[in-house]
Amino acid sequence: MNTPLINHIKSSFLEIFNVEPVMIFSPGRINIIGEHTDYNDGFVFPAAINKGIVTAIQKNTAEFCTAVAADVNEIFEFSLNNIQSIPSGGWRNYVLGVVAEIQKKGINLKPFNVVFGGDIPVGAGLSSSAALENSLVYGLNELFGFGLSKKEMILISQKAEHNYVGVRCGIMDQYASMFGKGNSALFLDCRTIEAKEIYIDLKEYELLLINTNVKHSLSESAYNNRRSVCEKVASLLNIPALRDASEESLLNIKSKISAEDYQKALFVIQENKRVEKAAETLKNNDILALGKLLYESHNGLQNQYKVSCDELDFLVNKAKENPDVLGARMMGGGFGGCTINIIKKTAIASFSKEISLLYKEKFKMECSIYNIELSEGTHIIG
Ligand code: GLA
Repeated sequence: MNTPLINHIKSSFLEIFNVEPVMIFSPGRINIIGEHTDYNDGFVFPAAINKGIVTAIQKNTAEFCTAVAADVNEIFEFSLNNIQSIPSGGWRNYVLGVVAEIQKKGINLKPFNVVFGGDIPVGAGLSSSAALENSLVYGLNELFGFGLSKKEMILISQKAEHNYVGVRCGIMDQYASMFGKGNSALFLDCRTIEAKEIYIDLKEYELLLINTNVKHSLSESAYNNRRSVCEKVASLLNIPALRDASEESLLNIKSKISAEDYQKALFVIQENKRVEKAAETLKNNDILALGKLLYESHNGLQNQYKVSCDELDFLVNKAKENPDVLGARMMGGGFGGCTINIIKKTAIASFSKEISLLYKEKFKMECSIYNIELSEGTHIIG
């Protein structure tokens, strides 16, 4: 837990509003495997991490709400009447989206003040947005006693993103952030929205994240475009979602779709299988096999689903050259953000040093390296 961050957010709130807030921590997430499968009703394997968003929130007696993004030092005042998203509104649309989606449930929300800040960089693919949405809906539920279940809350967070941010995301990020369990990853079925907790012990290996520190600008439109392709192929196959497809059934309609769309749908079918296999490898303590699945996943994301970028491919290729790294792949929506690596503990220092130098030489910018711990989902902090 990042105590300096918690103290900073709490004291900022007290300074501005002069009243004791309710404090919430909502974590970011990693994803071991299962990328772009969530909106296909498939399987994913994420885990909440010990980095995320800290939020201070309290009711107020004013006519309007005040939200403060402490990291960027921006203040936003808004009325609860007639909420609309703001073009290029950035973080404001997450706040507005959550508020509007709560109201859509027929809940009479009253004015509040909120201050938030985090220790996950925006755009790193670690779901700072889901963490923010979850912290807000969780805090409001706590303050006003709406009686919303965690599942209802994550659906509110997801709809905020669809309707007010414009990304038609799946449920993985919000689920992992809300339901995370220390030391475990969540084998989540995105159709039933039910998960099995799987204890993660990689023995002499560890998960290491490397942030490219880039976020390519097309990422949001490309994301929505991938989702549309999947929906189009599923409808041609006459099934609810690609989760229900097999490689054989896809072959039957191969002539009806473009070669690119065929590869994208094939990727989803294969990636979904890889998630199931990954859970098996962990049960059998076969970290080597898990690593191979990560490399296969990256290969598919790069060449079939086409959501990678040069910076991510470079990091994965360098990982492949190092025998102490068992697997690596891009993580999250793509077009930037982090790679996730399974690396021998004793090799972390030397690999980190080496990759940092190589990355800087190649891209004339720094990458960032994060050690993470798997943590609890969204919760109140004392
Ligand atoms: C983003 C979305 C998720 C998921 C991943 C890709 O993180 O928010 O719902 O689709 O991309 O796996």
